[in-house]
Amino acid sequence: MATLAGKPVTANGLGLMRMTLRNSCLPDEEAFKVLKAALASGANVWNGADFYGTPDENSLHLMNRYFTKYPEDADQVVLCIKSGVVSAKFDLDAGPDAMRGMVENSNKILDGKKTIDIFGPARVDPNYSVEKTVEGLAQLVKEGKIGGIQLSEVKAETIRRAAKVAKIDMVEAEVSLWSTDIFENGVAEVCAELGIVVVGHTPLGAGMLTGQLQNPSDLPENDYHRMFPRFQGENFEKNLELVKELQKLAQAKSCSAPQLALAWIKSHNGKPGMPFIIPVAGARSESRVKENCADVDLSESDLEEINSIMSRFPVAGNRYPDFVAKLAEY
Ligand SMILES: NC(=O)c1ccc[n+]([C@@H]2O[C@H](COP(=O)([O-])OP(=O)(O)OC[C@H]3O[C@@H](n4cnc5c(N)ncnc54)[C@H](OP(=O)(O)O)[C@@H]3O)[C@@H](O)[C@H]2O)c1
Repeated sequence: MATLAGKPVTANGLGLMRMTLRNSCLPDEEAFKVLKAALASGANVWNGADFYGTPDENSLHLMNRYFTKYPEDADQVVLCIKSGVVSAKFDLDAGPDAMRGMVENSNKILDGKKTIDIFGPARVDPNYSVEKTVEGLAQLVKEGKIGGIQLSEVKAETIRRAAKVAKIDMVEAEVSLWSTDIFENGVAEVCAELGIVVVGHTPLGAGMLTGQLQNPSDLPENDYHRMFPRFQGENFEKNLELVKELQKLAQAKSCSAPQLALAWIKSHNGKPGMPFIIPVAGARSESRVKENCADVDLSESDLEEINSIMSRFPVAGNRYPDFVAKLAEY
């Protein structure tokens, strides 16, 4: 069984981002049901950030309240926290002093109700070498302030450099039926080689791969994906064709489109040269979490069909708009 920060993990995780969005936080009553359902369904890798929300209401505050109510769940959950964002414009500070301050602040908010299992910067900070950042994080691991180290949206070479300084436990990368970069740019390969778990973020294409979006205007008004090329104009129309084909296959297999999308990610696990990949789908209802964690087997012929659909309906539009892309390493 795969482990992360010394704890057993399954191939399902939960994204916390949408639970503490500015101006539309999920009430605790509903959020707690989602979190309970995730754990009961085996999704014990919870992916949050101190910038998912505001300084006064983000993933860490939600975690404090949840584990105050359910202290018995704390040891079962692998809590991954990203940090390093110092302005609304997404300016970064991942220097050792800033990382230390952010870890201390996160632990203060958690107030002993939960430990931080994995911690790291949301992006590589151009002002510090990754070695310097990781050196600082390794010291925090040594002091017991965090359980392990993660990186996010990094290229293979950065992972190799970081792993020479300290153990890198997890790399977070966008992985989905329309974001397959890590299988082509060496990230999956290096993580497999170095025994690093991959957390696959945005595994349902921010909702697109669920088949629930028929028009760009179906995205909530405060959803930043409205600015992303894949969700705009002709790109959206073209990408909808891909989604419709995938939906047909899901229907033929008597599963839902989200289940097909997540099963495809999980189908890489255990294959030679592949790391263990945990998709962290964001869902804000108990029923969706349960649906997303259900096991769906994909046969070799299903996988061939999916490959064929992906090559016949290539994704239109870049993953990120330019101002976001410049923060990621690919
Ligand atoms: N490292 C990074 O740069 C980065 C960037 C973005 C996100 N992330 C991580 O990735 C996680 C997931 O990202 P995300 O939430 O933006 O995208 P996602 O998981 O790809 O998609 C979430 C969307 O799909 C909907 N959905 C989920 N399950 C569904 C189901 N069974 N049926 C129909 N609709 C369903 C959700 O609706 P409801 O919410 O209404 O249920 C939501 O609109 C985040 O929480 C965060 O932890 C990391």
